[in-house]
Amino acid sequence: MKLGVVILAAGQGTRMRSSLPKVLHRLANRPLLRHVVDTSSELNPAQMIVVYGHGGDAVQQAFSTHDGLTWVEQNQQLGTGHAVHQAIPALTDVDQVLVLYGDVPLIQSATLSSLIQAASQTDLALLTVNLDNPTGYGRIVRDAQGTVKRIVEQKDASIEELRISEINTGFLVATKTKLTDWLSRLDNDNAQKEYYLTDIVELAVADGVEVKVAQPSVPTEVMGVNDRCQLAQLERYYQLKQAEELMRTGVALIDPSRFDLRGELITGQDVEIDINVIIEGRVELGDGVRIGANSVIRNSIIANEVQILENCVIEDATIGAESIIGPFSRLRPGVRLAGKNKVGNFVEIKKSDIDTGSKINHLSYVGDSLMGKNVNVGAGAITCNYDGANKFQTVIGDNVFVGSDSQLIAPVKIDAGATIGAGSTITSDAPADTLTLSRSKQFSVKGWKRPVKKIKT
Ligand code: UD1
Ligand code: CA
Repeated sequence: MKLGVVILAAGQGTRMRSSLPKVLHRLANRPLLRHVVDTSSELNPAQMIVVYGHGGDAVQQAFSTHDGLTWVEQNQQLGTGHAVHQAIPALTDVDQVLVLYGDVPLIQSATLSSLIQAASQTDLALLTVNLDNPTGYGRIVRDAQGTVKRIVEQKDASIEELRISEINTGFLVATKTKLTDWLSRLDNDNAQKEYYLTDIVELAVADGVEVKVAQPSVPTEVMGVNDRCQLAQLERYYQLKQAEELMRTGVALIDPSRFDLRGELITGQDVEIDINVIIEGRVELGDGVRIGANSVIRNSIIANEVQILENCVIEDATIGAESIIGPFSRLRPGVRLAGKNKVGNFVEIKKSDIDTGSKINHLSYVGDSLMGKNVNVGAGAITCNYDGANKFQTVIGDNVFVGSDSQLIAPVKIDAGATIGAGSTITSDAPADTLTLSRSKQFSVKGWKRPVKKIKT
């Protein structure tokens, strides 16, 4: 059977109190709608329809690189039944329809598969869950034999119906032809004056259809985001789950509740991650890598036995084996360290290629540089790569020693084995194996006296 997915995303999301459409708010740095689209893609549907409304342009723009989505506008939010009805004409080539929600991000494909399975022998299957506190949700009304009869919304329910703990998650699978018929017969004669999708259950029962149910593995899968508190709760749940998965693969997380992965993390053996580390984008950590507390690592590759000490920010960098970075180092995009490097406190490196064994230990800026092996850059030395208009390269050969507090004014070349005397401003190339320095001569003034404070009379 060919499956069509309809994702409802037309709601305003007023309670987010945001100019951003709700489904573009991020969970683990991915828009809510992206989670739903990615999960439904796992089912290989023939078609995926997004019903959008408020902020539709922004939503479509955010997904402009994603083909395989069909966009259907719902101008007025007249109810969930009306929303699904809008999508029907776009479902040209499917037998079965799965309804999902753009603001319910943590639904799992295994749960959806079991819902589809439940629908395989009939025309309608609902995803339901039992909640200790069902307040606010539509209730599943069953007869004495346990047969599903209808769904009643909170606002339309009787006192007895309000006691039902089995609720409607909103997720359902229906045969397209039947669904189309039921949707065309909906009315809005209810407390909210809306076309309720849930009313198709009663129509199905009247048609003699047996309504099947499936349940998610945990209720969190079907929890929606209506405000920022709920978003934060789902974020914490998601993060803890990721953390537990990582620990099961052998990663040592000092505190799984203080670890955030907003992307993909690939790890070797015996990786240890201290508290408050944030990993973003795609990050690879080799065997024995240790990440110190409060570090942020984005889109980087970190080889075996590297130690990232506390409070580092690393982005689009490649760090070779056995290097020691930090504390308080910043590696900006385009840094490649070959291995056995040391980058220390308050060192910023940008777009530079640094060969094996070179050290930049304290208070330096290295940008647009090509650095050889076993170079030692002294405290406070910087490359002046920018003249206010253009950027220039600094080339430093193997075994160079750059004295503390030197400025290398690019474009400039320091040849292999050169020594730059501390405090030098280097404006032209320095020859190999030679001491080069530019420094004003030191002198002392004899008989000089410190000024003394005038005494007021
Ligand atoms: C709905 C169900 C309720 C269920 C609950 C689960 C109906 C009538 N009720 O109630 O049984 O327990 O979800 O959370 O379906 N939407 C549109 N267009 C519309 C209306 C809604 O796209 O015209 C979208 C919203 O963006 C939202 C979703 O549909 O993502 C649910 O709509 P909402 O109005 O929040 O339904 P509930 O009242 O929560
Ligand atoms: Ca809702």
